[in-house]
Amino acid sequence: MECCDNDNNPSRRDVLAGAGITAAILAAPAVFANMAAAGTTAKVTLDASAAKTTISRHIYGHFAEHLGRCIYEGIWVGENSTIVNTRGIRNDVVEALKAINIPNLRWPGGCFADTYHWKDGIGPREKRPSIVNVHWGNVTENNHFGTHEFFDLCSMLNTEPYVCGNVGSGTVQEMAEWLEYITMPGDSPMSKLRKANGRDEPWPITYWAVGNENWGCGGRMRSQYYADEYRRYQSFCRHFGRKKLYKVACGWDKDEWNETLMRDAGTMMDGLSLHYYTSIRSRDKITNGSATQFTEADWFKTLRKALGIDAYIVRTKAIMDKYDPQKKVGMVMDEWGTWYDVEPGTNPGFLYQQNTLRDALVAGVTFNIFHAHADRMHMANIAQTINVLQAMALTDGAKMLLTPTYHVFEMFKVHQNATLIPATVESPAYSLDKNEIPQVSVSASKDKSGKVHISLCNLHHDTACEVSVELKGIPATKVTGRILTDEKITAYNTFDVPNALKPREFGDAKVEKGMLTVALPARSVVVLELA
Ligand code: AHR
Repeated sequence: MECCDNDNNPSRRDVLAGAGITAAILAAPAVFANMAAAGTTAKVTLDASAAKTTISRHIYGHFAEHLGRCIYEGIWVGENSTIVNTRGIRNDVVEALKAINIPNLRWPGGCFADTYHWKDGIGPREKRPSIVNVHWGNVTENNHFGTHEFFDLCSMLNTEPYVCGNVGSGTVQEMAEWLEYITMPGDSPMSKLRKANGRDEPWPITYWAVGNENWGCGGRMRSQYYADEYRRYQSFCRHFGRKKLYKVACGWDKDEWNETLMRDAGTMMDGLSLHYYTSIRSRDKITNGSATQFTEADWFKTLRKALGIDAYIVRTKAIMDKYDPQKKVGMVMDEWGTWYDVEPGTNPGFLYQQNTLRDALVAGVTFNIFHAHADRMHMANIAQTINVLQAMALTDGAKMLLTPTYHVFEMFKVHQNATLIPATVESPAYSLDKNEIPQVSVSASKDKSGKVHISLCNLHHDTACEVSVELKGIPATKVTGRILTDEKITAYNTFDVPNALKPREFGDAKVEKGMLTVALPARSVVVLELA
């Protein structure tokens, strides 16, 4: 388990410890500026005249790895399954994901990508070799979900494929041939193979990653070595239909790594991949805590850790700005989310965890932070789509439930491709022991039809907040909204009660003479629409 076996992941480091928290807050004015003394009122100013940056819809991307029950069972059940499916892909999951407009899907890993040999996953299914998934539980998989099935899924979801190629244990030729197989319209050895396997036309693709975590599970490389390997592999990453590929290089939370990569390969990449997991690992590293049985202190620690993604982004942006002042290279946070202990009794290698109101808050504040960095942030991918880590949906045989995180994705989809309206926020502090985080997180955008949406999170476990929002240049007379909250911080959906936690209408906001006031309940995520 790469994430938890070393201290390389930012989630293992106390990003907000001590003085760091002040830096994080000051560095992201749109989200947390000017934390006021503890209290129950917050002041926000939105200035529509300063709205110019588009929030890339790709920030709302997903990640589905061959890990545990994400692909197999969660997405792929096979054509002969009793679970309702289309060409082997379960219908309930496709319908649920379509409803949140997923813009892209990263596949096949993760650590799995750097052991994946794509030719194992093409041709008649019964003839495909079985392989051992060495990273995730050493289970044997039959390769029934491969390139054709992945592109079929993307077309059902109307989403853009984002493929992660194998640098760790694959060759340059293997990666080049995979791209030829996917994109070559005319005659070539790989396009003939594709046609022989039943697909005449090439598939559309733009996003391509050259390796995954090559500092860790993807080869334990050193920065200079990977930078040189990246240069070599990417030279042979061609779109044979002469379209432009968006090539993503593997970054890390070590500044030296990103500095080397940006310096020596920055002009050869379109995106820099970063990963950030939110976990509250115990000092002895024995536990990441339970997904559902947690205290107020754990709630606080988790949200504080989630907010630490801002400092990571700010730090890495500074390195990117140094080598790419024109901001051509995008930040691609292609793995993020919570990481707890697996559900009791489940395979530790499968990373199956439940999802509570706490995860909804993590998703809400993370999106608000991503929006604030819309100038650099091209893409992000939640880890992972189904049955793994901070999932959208969990399945049990034919049953499926939608998680609180799913509902945040659904509520926030109004921000996709909208224009960011910069916000200044004076938030009360939420304190526990000697630590402080802002109680309120806010983000706003204007969509193509002129509608303004404001997403607000109240991180406090038991204190409501009165938020007044000055609407500069936003001529609103009406406000509607929805809220996700519960009496309990540990609330979650089960297969028996799948709709315990879902968004409902929110009526505690009013707009008058250019001012919006919101009575924001404790532990809540709210999205408002102004008209
Ligand atoms: O998402 C689970 C794993 O976390 C991915 O396979 C890997 O890239 C990261 O360490």
